[in-house]
Amino acid sequence: MSVDSLLHVASPLAGSLTPVHAADHAHGWWRSAVIYQVYPRSFRDLNGDGIGDLAGITAELPQLAELDIDAVWLSPFYRSPQRDAGYDVSDYCDVDPLFGKLGDFDGLIAEANRLSLRVIVDLVPNHCSDQHRDFQAALAAGAGSPERDMFIFRDGTGPAGEQPPNNWQSHFGGSAWTRITEPDGEPGQWYLHLFDSSQPDFNWDNRAVHHEFERVLRFWLDRGVSGFRVDVAHALVKAPGLPAWGGRADGSSSDGFPGHEAPMFGQPALHDIYRAWRRILEEYGPDRILCAEANVDPLPRLADWVRPDEMHQAFNFPYLHAGLDLHRLRTIVTESLTSLDAVGAPSTWVLSNHDVVRHATRFGYGWSGPREGDGIGPADPQPDHALGRSRAAAASLFMLGLPGGAYLYQGEELGLPDGIDIPGHQRQDPTFTRTGGTRLGRDGCRVPLPWRASERHNGFGDGVHPWLPQPESFTELARDAQAADPSSHLNLYRRILAARRELGLGRGSLSWAEEWCTGSSLAFLNGDVLVVMNMGTESLELPAGEVLLRSSSADRELADGWHGISSGETVWLRISAEDSES
Ligand code: BGC
Repeated sequence: MSVDSLLHVASPLAGSLTPVHAADHAHGWWRSAVIYQVYPRSFRDLNGDGIGDLAGITAELPQLAELDIDAVWLSPFYRSPQRDAGYDVSDYCDVDPLFGKLGDFDGLIAEANRLSLRVIVDLVPNHCSDQHRDFQAALAAGAGSPERDMFIFRDGTGPAGEQPPNNWQSHFGGSAWTRITEPDGEPGQWYLHLFDSSQPDFNWDNRAVHHEFERVLRFWLDRGVSGFRVDVAHALVKAPGLPAWGGRADGSSSDGFPGHEAPMFGQPALHDIYRAWRRILEEYGPDRILCAEANVDPLPRLADWVRPDEMHQAFNFPYLHAGLDLHRLRTIVTESLTSLDAVGAPSTWVLSNHDVVRHATRFGYGWSGPREGDGIGPADPQPDHALGRSRAAAASLFMLGLPGGAYLYQGEELGLPDGIDIPGHQRQDPTFTRTGGTRLGRDGCRVPLPWRASERHNGFGDGVHPWLPQPESFTELARDAQAADPSSHLNLYRRILAARRELGLGRGSLSWAEEWCTGSSLAFLNGDVLVVMNMGTESLELPAGEVLLRSSSADRELADGWHGISSGETVWLRISAEDSES
């Protein structure tokens, strides 16, 4: 069905619909998939060392399958000194002993297959760990050697080379360059690291780097993964000559997005890398996917990443950053669908991940939450947790009604808040140390999950204390406690995900329902389901139709007879042909 013909759908709303996106009939499981991010350190600790492990994930996988998701994405579990929680990889083709062995990974894949869940793994191609054998070899070999050429080494500036080669800053704070001591004991060259100094950037101008990552792709594809989430996919290639950058030092513009012209982001040569990877995936059939963590703005530029011969999906960070600003949300949803439709790609939607304050906490503030990546401490203004959780439910119900794919972050189905009371000595995010504690970093959203309220550490593991302390509220929010309560956040997610699948919303269409887009409410029609989010202070009457889901548990209990939507709530309403005739 074309976008224009959407206007002619039999519906009492037809006069006030602005069509944006037609139903999606293309092949590809990912186009409407709900993909659940597992953060292995914090998922489930089966061996009792205080850190989650692969066997723990396998043990709890049936609980995820119950949620009616399509796939899990595993954040890194590879060999790593864990200086950036595993995003500092020292061996891309092995499991870190913290998490288990390769055999445990195979066990996880087998269990996922049994449960009809796909598994996507994280690929970290921009940088490795300084303990990676290639970086160690580069340090041992001299300046100008092929070993050094795997990375971005440069001589320093200043009379004795004592100043960094350019003014680029690390995303985690401080200079993006570190000077090494040469094998002869003298101060020597500098190497580039867009992140921590323990994460040297690879030199993607060197074909040997391409070959190495093609090997890594095949290694995991051979083991049965359904694809890769590609870490900082916009950063691999740097502008020739590494020119100084006058925008914000970490490459972002004033609104936090990478500046369009930043020399470390979005370089044209990136696209051929992903085309080559796509060809490799296609050797394994049509079902393996690439998803870009490409923090690019404006949205139409994101479409360049998901052209038919490149990646399958890209994260939609503008959607995450829009929060509950309804005007911005509408613009972003419209721009996402129209720009991605133009290249035949589905959109994705996301509210939380391991790098941002959880949305149940962000929405517990007025309208401006904490700065991204900075976390919250006991000395900061505190969120209203109950408000945050109920708005999070409303935002999730809205997001999961949108056509396209959706990414969930572990624990959001429980409405978990960020950990706030984390003592400095337990904080592990390099942002905390690199900024002398000025920026708290991302540990708050990485606190280990609560599984069973009556068990030690809320069932995360029965050994030593979890690597980050769990807030007190985690006991009442534990999965088993919520499973037993029909009005819990968890049961709401279960109902949403089951209904989304049954109604085919992920493949559906989208038209704005203008009458309910009032500025303080936002509404769209997907097929015959009207999704209305009301962030105003007043309740609104709804049109005739069957209420399928409400985000607010209070209303679920007192719903009798009242056909409206309260302040702070989202509703899914089925508008049937019958209703439209009445
Ligand atoms: C990951 C972060 C990580 C960074 C460096 C990101 O975008 O999501 O967790 O610190 O890449 O690898």
